[in-house]
Amino acid sequence: MAFVSVSDFEQKASVELEKNALDYYKSGAGEQLTLRLNREAFQRVVRLRFNLGFWLLGLLRLRPRCLRDVSQLEISCMILGHHIEFPLGIAPVAMQKMAHPVGEIGNARAAGVAGCIFILSTLATTSLEDLAAAAPETCKWFQLYIYKDRALTESLVRRAENAGFKALVLTVDAPVFGQRRDDVRNKFSLPSHLSLANFHGELASGVVSVIGGSGLSEYVVSQFDPTVTWQDIKWLKLLTHLPIIVKGVLTAEDAELAREFGCAGIIVSNHGGRQLDSTPATIEVLPEIVKAVGKDLVVMLDGGIREGNDILKALALGAQMVFIGRPSIWALACDGLRGVEQLLGLLRKDFEISMALTGCRTLADIQATMVVPESAYRRLK
Ligand SMILES: Cc1cc2nc3c(=O)[nH]c(=O)nc-3n(C[C@H](O)[C@H](O)[C@H](O)COP(=O)(O)O)c2cc1C
Repeated sequence: MAFVSVSDFEQKASVELEKNALDYYKSGAGEQLTLRLNREAFQRVVRLRFNLGFWLLGLLRLRPRCLRDVSQLEISCMILGHHIEFPLGIAPVAMQKMAHPVGEIGNARAAGVAGCIFILSTLATTSLEDLAAAAPETCKWFQLYIYKDRALTESLVRRAENAGFKALVLTVDAPVFGQRRDDVRNKFSLPSHLSLANFHGELASGVVSVIGGSGLSEYVVSQFDPTVTWQDIKWLKLLTHLPIIVKGVLTAEDAELAREFGCAGIIVSNHGGRQLDSTPATIEVLPEIVKAVGKDLVVMLDGGIREGNDILKALALGAQMVFIGRPSIWALACDGLRGVEQLLGLLRKDFEISMALTGCRTLADIQATMVVPESAYRRLK
């Protein structure tokens, strides 16, 4: 099968994966409103809160420029001191060996080949050390959840430093896990031949249901620390020299707190619609966050990125780079490492076409004026 879009990977993966895993990867929380919105905001109706502070309704339209010599594009950039080949990375997604035996290593190696950043989840089925050994060339960040057991959390931070990870991505939108109804129905558990490889004993094999719902949700309630506040960023900063990026920020107010507490960057994210349902799409809140902190922090975004135009729209609205979650899993399920290499190649090519057709030779040429809501045109008539 020829893969020419992310949907092609998704379709094939839907056939390849067994139900427990497929439902886990694709689900959003609650009625899945936010899950749908993440995508629709790029495609159809979007409400953008523009700098003036009012809401405009309409389709997100691109305003291309022409006759600007796009024969040689320059799409590499620097993020937190690291050179990356193009402004897309792989977001942390837990338990990737359910998708393919190569698991996280397939995604990390493919990211390395493409010159992209890979983020390893705390809840990975490959340990920090094994991943670092298998993908030494890749720029790797470690996604951290804070456990009630702070000594255990500290040991994860130390291991990330020792294994050569370049940043800590603290996920802040998951004091408890969102209610993913399919996981509850399926009584989701990690297949018994797999484990959470960053841990030993109970913590490694503990994603099974004790009380009859989602095993993952029960694990999170028993292990993650829901008392965490912004003050804990201070604690984390004392522990490590690694830059701290907070993932899961959706408001200007929290972005400002991230700046105040000395974070290096933010990932504007609603966890792929898997946590609080009814939050806006990430592309909708991006402008207010960029306006508040864009000059001081690296602002990145994930949620619903599926094609080159999406990357271009996010960059035009002020993100410095974007991440994909589910697409990396669909590609892994289709063909392991080769599948992800194909996916990243396809997205790179698609982004280059978007740039060329909007008259952008470099990333700096992508301007906010290139993205307008449809209503802006209606008002001109
Ligand atoms: C199956 C699955 C597992 C995820 N696991 C984690 C995780 O362990 N840690 C985390 O911070 N985010 C996790 N996320 C959220 C992603 O990092 C990312 O925010 C989201 O997938 C982006 O949206 P997209 O899937 O539409 O690209 C997960 C997402 C999915 C779909």
